[in-house]
Amino acid sequence: MNGGAVSWPAPKSLVILILLLYTRILDCKTLAKSAPQALVFGGNGLLGASTVEKLLVGGFHVTTINRGNWYWDSGIKIKPRVHHVTCDRLLSLKSCKEIAALSKSKFDVAVDFSGYHRFQIQEVFDIWQDRIGLYIYISSDSVFEVCNKSHDGYSRETDAVRPNNVLIREEYAKKDSYGHRKLLCEEELQFQNMKWGVPFVSLRLPDVIGPRDNTYRWWIYQLMIRLYPHLNSDIKLPRSFCEKPLSLVHSDDVAEVIFDLCSQNPEKFAHGKAYNLAFKENPSLFELLDLMKSELEMPDVPVTCGEEPGVHLYPSVTLGPVNTSLAERELSWNPSPLTETVKELVIFYESASRNPEFRREQEGMLNSAHIARNQQDMSKAFNKVYLTVSMRDEL
Ligand SMILES: *[C@@H]1O[C@H](CO)[C@@H](O)[C@H](O)[C@H]1NC(C)=O
Ligand SMILES: *[C@@H]1O[C@H](CO)[C@@H](O)[C@H](O)[C@H]1NC(C)=O
Repeated sequence: MNGGAVSWPAPKSLVILILLLYTRILDCKTLAKSAPQALVFGGNGLLGASTVEKLLVGGFHVTTINRGNWYWDSGIKIKPRVHHVTCDRLLSLKSCKEIAALSKSKFDVAVDFSGYHRFQIQEVFDIWQDRIGLYIYISSDSVFEVCNKSHDGYSRETDAVRPNNVLIREEYAKKDSYGHRKLLCEEELQFQNMKWGVPFVSLRLPDVIGPRDNTYRWWIYQLMIRLYPHLNSDIKLPRSFCEKPLSLVHSDDVAEVIFDLCSQNPEKFAHGKAYNLAFKENPSLFELLDLMKSELEMPDVPVTCGEEPGVHLYPSVTLGPVNTSLAERELSWNPSPLTETVKELVIFYESASRNPEFRREQEGMLNSAHIARNQQDMSKAFNKVYLTVSMRDEL
């Protein structure tokens, strides 16, 4: 027996120990890696914040890219739970230093709430190329406004085809530059899809309603009714839209569908797909205000279909509602009932009007261009009804 044989077992157990430790470290690595990665452009607004919350609850690691405005309570509910990069996409993604550090990362899904210009889509693919598992683009029913829809029914996905004639095409594009640019983004996605093979889905949304809406449109209509006893002016809606059916969609219903899409096999969307989403109900503007009135228990507030422009906050399109049967079939689209949503939103905005934590939003709403014509009266009535004595003292 020599010393070498005696000393052999010691290094062997050392090797085993090291091996064990090593596999444990590997385990941790794979565990950390297995959290799916989501890249979100926006993520601080009405739709985005609701979606990011669902992704976080669903176990996603979320990276948000936006200008860093945390609206409502998203600074508390979202910001601390995501990896956030401040960047203004309107300038350029490439000009933001922190983007470089992200550029080699892979993302299971990218959700784009803030794409309004073709170059913004281009830039995403210049940077991440094929390192995105599924691209979900938030588009708009305004795309139909620049297309050659040749029937009077509800707009179907297949209606989003631009006119053949170049002159007519340009005329339409000028008529609705927002719709034109959103469709350009969809077209760019199709192009990038051929180049990099990244599956994508475009969700064509009508006007979105929900709690924490930065356009303040719902809130303003609700207040016009609620504050009527102090304002004493009839609510006049534009005759051209007053009684036409319209499409709306609930932010939380859209967030739900986006979350579902994130856990589906992206191969289903290998060549790109577009879907319309909307409530099943299509009220007219007049009927919508009627629903608000009955929820507020103020059925006698006079609303009339009068001269133009009236208070025209919905709809933002001229071609009428969208047909959602494709999303029902392929995405199991099953939106909330409209009446339930009206109830939910009336309660939310009633309490938001009283909540001192939303003072910034209250001021934003009262300064909104939508109520420019009777801003002073609205502010006075609002302060009278909602502000506590101590809050009034602070003003
Ligand atoms: C929606 O489109 C489908 C065909 O895709 C049609 O059968 C259905 O009647 C349409 N619904 C409405 C409300 O226009
Ligand atoms: C619009 O589409 C119809 C068929 O869907 C076609 O016959 C017509 O030429 C198109 N019009 C324009 C301006 O492209």
